[in-house]
Amino acid sequence: MRILVTGGLGFIGSHTCVELLNENYEVVIADNLSNSSIDVLDKIEKITSKRPKFYEIDVCDKEKVSKIFNENEIDAVIHFAGYKAVGESVTEPLKYYRNNLDSTLTLLEVMKKEKCHNFIFSSSATVYGSPKELPIKENFPLSTTNPYGTTKLMIEQILADLSKADKDLSIIVLRYFNPIGAHKSGLLGENPSGIPNNLMPYIVRVADKKLPFLNVFGNDYDTPDGTGVRDYIHVVDLARGHLKALEKGANFKGIEYYNLGTGIGYSVLDLVKTFEKVNNVKVPYKIVDRRPGDIDACYADPTKAYKELGFKAIYGIDDMCIDSYNFIIKNKESHK
Ligand code: WQD
Repeated sequence: MRILVTGGLGFIGSHTCVELLNENYEVVIADNLSNSSIDVLDKIEKITSKRPKFYEIDVCDKEKVSKIFNENEIDAVIHFAGYKAVGESVTEPLKYYRNNLDSTLTLLEVMKKEKCHNFIFSSSATVYGSPKELPIKENFPLSTTNPYGTTKLMIEQILADLSKADKDLSIIVLRYFNPIGAHKSGLLGENPSGIPNNLMPYIVRVADKKLPFLNVFGNDYDTPDGTGVRDYIHVVDLARGHLKALEKGANFKGIEYYNLGTGIGYSVLDLVKTFEKVNNVKVPYKIVDRRPGDIDACYADPTKAYKELGFKAIYGIDDMCIDSYNFIIKNKESHK
């Protein structure tokens, strides 16, 4: 099977391409390099000894997307490409609605024309908003508190309507919890430019003495130690979940939704203390005010993905901390 992976040089996309290639899928990558770099393609080849076909294109460009389908027999699409910074989406909503919706609509229109029926969408637990109870199940109410999350929710609605209109479609929506960690080789990982928004990349920068201390955004949440609780899932587990979704999609018509999480919640301080212990480093921190829009706690009920996809996360929080730090140590020169 040949899979088109949009955003395939990004953090989750690149790890998914490695797992696909290791399972002997043919992989075609479309990426505009707006939040990734071309050297990731070399890293994917180094890990798998296979070099995916690469198109440096913007997925909003219908002509360029059509060219990919004209030049390659695409059996399924995994759509990662999109902007994903919550804070930036609040200050630049138009940029997020234009890019995330336009790229998806363009892709779906070309797929319809080319009679490609299998689509896996990269959604996010952010569509659950502030859950009334925990753990979170796929049939919980959906609501969003920022434009980034709203683009995900809007796309899920588009896909639901499309599924009603076209019975040949197989659509799987994967709602990620908090992806962290890195490939064990240290060749792939998360290395955002500038000051990281997310917790793990920030912890790594502090441990690597690139930043003086971590700001812990509030310790007065309704959680065991007062700091925010999240369901951290190893990015390699998340990648494996996409292969399980592909297998399901090949024998299924309609639309289904799956949480990809571990089902275990860890607080900010849990992560800091684990990171320090397993890496034998110090991560100084200061308790500061809450970050607007943050919720107390969020973790998945992973039962449906296990029962219907046969997916279960295998890496624990220690692995996530070890692998995140290992990536930075192994890539000092590119980690500013
Ligand atoms: C985790 C916890 C913070 C940074 C977001 C998006 C979600 C997904 C993952 C894209 C929270 C605390 C963080 C820091 C801190 N992105 N924190 N100091 O907000 O759960 O999820 O990223 O798909 O859609 O919503 O992740 O890593 O930003 O925060 O104390 O410097 O760490 O308050 O409790 P979040 P996060």
